[in-house]
Amino acid sequence: MANRNAELSDKILSLKKQKNAVILVHNYQLGELQDIADFIGDSLGLSQNAAQTDARVIVFCGVHFMAETASILCPDKTVLLPDLDAGCPMADMITAEQLRQKKSQLPGVPVVCYINSSAEVKAESDICCTSANAIKVVESLEAKEILFVPDQYLGHYVATKTNKKIILWPGFCPPHARIQPEDITRLKEAYPQAKVMVHPECTPAVIALADEVLSTSGMCRFARETKAKEIIVGTEVGIIYRLKKENPTKRFIPISEQVICPHMKLINLEKVLWSLQEMSPEIKVPEATRRRAKAAVDRMLAIGRQD
Ligand code: 13P
Ligand code: SF4
Repeated sequence: MANRNAELSDKILSLKKQKNAVILVHNYQLGELQDIADFIGDSLGLSQNAAQTDARVIVFCGVHFMAETASILCPDKTVLLPDLDAGCPMADMITAEQLRQKKSQLPGVPVVCYINSSAEVKAESDICCTSANAIKVVESLEAKEILFVPDQYLGHYVATKTNKKIILWPGFCPPHARIQPEDITRLKEAYPQAKVMVHPECTPAVIALADEVLSTSGMCRFARETKAKEIIVGTEVGIIYRLKKENPTKRFIPISEQVICPHMKLINLEKVLWSLQEMSPEIKVPEATRRRAKAAVDRMLAIGRQD
């Protein structure tokens, strides 16, 4: 297995040079992909990186909305998603038509859309956000009332941090919604010295028990900087690989081994190699949608990180 992975990685790295490609990898991806990344990060970091790269080709090891965001930002580059089935169930919980209908009931109310959404939904929104800047994005708006789509839990978390009225959409991330408060209380008893960090896609009851509420890259930064030696991790388990690699002397305890995003796990070395060989599957956003979606993404990028 190790030999096979080394062989595939070598092939990918030499083909990557030939094709002038860059490999962008989300923090939840398999370790074998994290190891060949040109850049590894959260949704915001990946968008910033896509916007800045000089490469001709972007191979996206993540899910569909992330590759779409890269295509929105870099229309002249070839953006490859090695498995087209790597979607995001939360992003599918709102359509552009549903959003248009909701907007018609809320005239003058700006729409903040989580980056975990389709290009069409972004095109209907005023500004995007990620888990790394949602509070900052909402605070940047003058309006007192905001429609936040599609993640009800991230939206709820933001509402607890601002005086604005946040109208929620009933979307959620299935793996994060599976985390139960009892999972944390049990682990806190077993590891009384541990710090608890969770993703804002978790439910309010889980967030209430956390020491830190962070994006995935925010978690990586916190893990490096904290003096704590034991950290309970409330997000998709793929991040544990990076946390351990960067902090070999610290102990990371996943809240539950069941917090797995099956979509994130669809990408592997074989598919990346095949994708680079075939230059497919390519993600391309139609120009009219792309231009409108880009305005919302650009406004977010101008705001930067909060964590
Ligand atoms: P981050 O942007 O914090 O990495 O989270 C994104 C996410 O949910 C990916 O599914
Ligand atoms: Fe979507 Fe959740 Fe998977 Fe992220 S972890 S891609 S939000 S389903």
